[in-house]
Amino acid sequence: MFGRVKSLDAILATAEKKSLHRSLGAFQLTMLGVGAIIGTGIFVLTAEAAQKAGPGMMISFIIAGFVCAVAALCYAEMASMVPVSGSAYTYSYAVMGELLAWMVGWALVLEYAVAAGAVAVGWSGYFVGLLREYLGITLPTALVNADALIASIKLAFGATNSEAIQTAIATGGYVNLPAFIISLLVTWLLVIGTKESAYVNAILVMVKITALTLFVVLALPVMKSENFEPFAPLGFGGISAAAASIFFAYVGFDAVSTAAEETKNPQRNMPIGLIGSLAICTVFYLLVASGVIGSVGAQPLFDAAGNGLAPGSTELAAACATKGGQAVVCSKEALAWTLREIGGQQGSSWIQQAGNLVGLAAGLALPSVILMMMFGQTRIFFVMSRDGLLPEKLSKVHPKYHTPHVVTVITGIFVAIFAALFPVGALADISNSGTLFAFAMVAIAVLILRRRDPNRVRPFRTPAVWLVSPLAAVGCVYLFWSLSGYTKLLFVGWAVIGLLVYFGYSRSRSHVGRGLVEVHEEDADIPPQPVPPLPGGIDIND
Ligand code: ALA
Repeated sequence: MFGRVKSLDAILATAEKKSLHRSLGAFQLTMLGVGAIIGTGIFVLTAEAAQKAGPGMMISFIIAGFVCAVAALCYAEMASMVPVSGSAYTYSYAVMGELLAWMVGWALVLEYAVAAGAVAVGWSGYFVGLLREYLGITLPTALVNADALIASIKLAFGATNSEAIQTAIATGGYVNLPAFIISLLVTWLLVIGTKESAYVNAILVMVKITALTLFVVLALPVMKSENFEPFAPLGFGGISAAAASIFFAYVGFDAVSTAAEETKNPQRNMPIGLIGSLAICTVFYLLVASGVIGSVGAQPLFDAAGNGLAPGSTELAAACATKGGQAVVCSKEALAWTLREIGGQQGSSWIQQAGNLVGLAAGLALPSVILMMMFGQTRIFFVMSRDGLLPEKLSKVHPKYHTPHVVTVITGIFVAIFAALFPVGALADISNSGTLFAFAMVAIAVLILRRRDPNRVRPFRTPAVWLVSPLAAVGCVYLFWSLSGYTKLLFVGWAVIGLLVYFGYSRSRSHVGRGLVEVHEEDADIPPQPVPPLPGGIDIND
C-alpha cells in the first residue's frame, strides 16, 4: 500500500501543461504570505495564549514561529520541485505513497476547513464588538456563541452540574450566528469566482498591517515592566501549550509555496517570500504581544485550587463573568479591548476610538483569511477527487463561474456548522493538529526524496537539509504533543474515520490503483487564481 506512488514525472508533466507565467518577485510573494498569515491568531488567540502562558506567551510566539520557519524551508523545496496543486497531499503522494498521502489530505481538511471555521468565530467576536461600539446594538447572547448548548450537551453526557455549567446555561448562547453567516457569505464569494475576492484581499493586507502598527504605537509607550511579572505563572508546560495554540497565528505561509510555479527565480525568491513573510509576522506578533502584556497585563485566571482555567471552558467563562470581563484573557476581541482599556486608563477617548478602528480593521480583513482557507480546502478536495480518492462529482466545475462549486458548497456548509457551534480556541487547536501532521510529513518527504532521487532538479534546495528537516519534524511533534488531550483524541478519531473511508471507498477507486495515471489536459488545477494587484498599483500579473 505504500508502493502506490504517483509518479513524480506524471505530476510534473501536468504542471508543465499548466505552465503559468513566472511573474512573482520576492516582494509580491512576501505580501502574499503576510496576507494569508495575519488573522484570528494575533487578533483573537492572543487572549488564549495569555490564559495558557501569561507573559511567557512571548516565548510561545518565538517557538511557534521557529517551527514554522524550518517547516517553511522544507515546504519551499517541495513546492518548487512539485509545483502543482494539493501541496502536502501531492508531495506525499509522490514520495510516500497513497495511504500516507490520503492521511495527509485528510489531515489538511483540519488545517483548512476547521481553520476557516476558527477564523469565522474570531471574526464574529470583533463583529459583535463593532456593532456595539459603532451602532450601539448588542446582539442577544443566545446568538453569538454556543456555550449554553455545549454545557447542556456536557450535562446530558453526565458532567457534574457545576456552578460553571449552570452559569454557561444561564448566560451562554445556542449558536454563533455571525460566524455562521460570514462562512456562508464567503462560500458564495468563492462560488461566483475567486477573482474579485482576491483583489479585495490585497487591499486588506495593508489594512491589517496598518492596524497592527497602530496598536503597537499606542500600546508600547504605556508598558509597565511589572506587568511581565510573574513571567511564566504556569511554567514551561503553559508556554508549550500556548505555543501549540498560537501556532495557528502563523499558518497560511503555505500560500507562498503554492505560488512556486509562478515565481521568478524561485531559488532566491521562494525562501525570501516564505521566511520574509514569517519574519515580518513574527516581529509584529512579538511587538503586539508585548504591547498587550505590558499595557494591560496578561495574567491567567485560576480556579480555587490554583490551576489555570482552560480557554473556552465554561469554568473560564464563569470566572470572567465574576470579573465583569475585565481581563484581556476574557476578551473575544483582544486587541481592540486592550486599546479601549488603555484609553480608559489614560482618559483618552482618542485611544478608545483607535481600539474601535483596530476592531474595524479585523472586521474587514478576517473574512479574507476565511476565504483563503476555504479556497485551500476546495483545492485539496478537488485534487483528491480528481485522483479518484473522493467522488469525482466533487471536482465538477461550474459552467458559468468556472469554479469547483460542488466541493465549495459542501465545504462551506461544514465550515458554517463548525463556526456556529464551537469556540475559536478549540477549532484553532484542532486545525493545528492536522497542520502539524501535514508539516511533519512534508519535512520527512523532503529527506526521503533527497536520498531517493538526488539528481532531480530542485529549483529551491532547503539549506542544511539534514538539520532543518529533522528540526521541523521534531518541532511539529513537540507542538502536537503540547496540544490539549481532547484535541489529540479528536485528531486520532479523525484519522480513524479517514482510514475507514480510505479502505471502504477510496482504495478501490483510486486512479493510481487502477492504473489510470494519464495526465488530463485540464488536470493541473482549478483555473489558476490571478494574483491581485497590490496596493500602490503594482500589478504583478503584468
Ligand atoms: N494564520 C491565520 C490566522 O491567524 C490562519 O487567522
